[in-house]
Amino acid sequence: MTTSTPPLVIHLIAAARPNFMKIAPLYHALSRESWCEPKLVHTGQHYDPNMSDAFFRDLNMPQPHIHLGVGSGTHAEQTGGVMIAYEKVCMTQKPDWIIVVGDVNSTAACAMVGTKLWIPVIHLEAGLRSRDRHMPEEINRLVTDAISDVLWTPSPDADENLLAEGVSAHRIERVGNIMIDSYVMVRPQIEADQTRVNIGLEAGKYGIVTLHRPSNVDDPAVLKTLVDQLIHISAKLPLVFAVHPRTRKRLQEFGLLNQLEQANAIQLTEPLGYIQFMNLVSSAKAVVTDSGGVQEESTYLGIPCLTLRENTERPITLTEGSNRLVTPDSLAKNIDEVLNGKWVTGKRPEHWDGNTASRCVAALKKLAKI
Ligand code: UD1
Ligand code: UDP
Repeated sequence: MTTSTPPLVIHLIAAARPNFMKIAPLYHALSRESWCEPKLVHTGQHYDPNMSDAFFRDLNMPQPHIHLGVGSGTHAEQTGGVMIAYEKVCMTQKPDWIIVVGDVNSTAACAMVGTKLWIPVIHLEAGLRSRDRHMPEEINRLVTDAISDVLWTPSPDADENLLAEGVSAHRIERVGNIMIDSYVMVRPQIEADQTRVNIGLEAGKYGIVTLHRPSNVDDPAVLKTLVDQLIHISAKLPLVFAVHPRTRKRLQEFGLLNQLEQANAIQLTEPLGYIQFMNLVSSAKAVVTDSGGVQEESTYLGIPCLTLRENTERPITLTEGSNRLVTPDSLAKNIDEVLNGKWVTGKRPEHWDGNTASRCVAALKKLAKI
């Protein structure tokens, strides 16, 4: 590339809460390069200030360069809405590369737009599989990986999944876990943050809860059992529950919110900013969650993670990390094991080290022949 060549324009697609931690480190790393111009594209899938703006602030990102403003809807409405809006952007702006992250509806939608316009698409966090096709994310993962040109994976299981599906090895590169880069990047701010202290919690003496999977929160009977179990375990371990908007809506709809609000040892909060949330996670005794990202962060930190799911697309957090799959009925027994010190700390998987964004930049330079 000569000095007169215009920089390659790279679209980084972000849509929902877990995407922001995955694009921020890459945005910062690419911004330091002279051969490319990264542009943040926000589809608007998440839009509440505490589900979107807070992360731009915490992760030191500028306002999105392009905002599609798609918002909520059914799967088809959301996927179709993103495709229609993003196709228009691509036809006028003609980016050189599109990078999609994770497994939300906008991920698959933007990958489809790019591929059909012959714009090379890279999927960061490729190859994860829960093998549960009732999860909308599993469909998004399968679609995105099938059509993306380049598949950047976080762990060996992801490489194996892709190879078993017949993906040729030259499309796959293991770059590591980009979420950990975000944690490492703002660790000093997380450590200096006063959220835990302001709530009045002592380090190691509380648990933190997040829930938002449709399988847990959209069925009234399942959600009722979960609420009962959380109240039950809060007698042994006080809990902070950062309530996702989907979950709050369901708790209200099913008449369960009052019960939680009145529980003495459960503190309900709105969704928290990344720095605030990680301040709470990093000193917690345990995490109770169905989040993908939180399973990874707790593995990195060696904090017991009780995942309320039948499966996980992140099995390395079970085999190497501090994660365990639990049911509502086995939650109390598992909390006892945590409290009795019978939980493995685990180890940090290879390449979950804060250097994934640098590996992505190096891989991209090779692809672009820079
Ligand atoms: C989405 C992703 C999921 C991801 C999660 C992260 C899909 C299919 N799902 O699930 O993979 O784990 O984000 O949090 O892409 N809402 C608001 N304000 C917002 C956003 C959502 O009130 O800013 C409410 C709306 O009522 C909306 C509901 O939450 O209908 C669900 O939002 P949606 O983006 O469809 O799915 P999530 O459950 O957030
Ligand atoms: N998170 C946050 N505030 C919260 C709950 C979660 O900042 O109140 C962060 C968490 O640290 C992780 C990401 O959000 O980085 C995970 O997003 P989420 O659970 O919404 O989605 P998933 O990972 O399940 O797709």
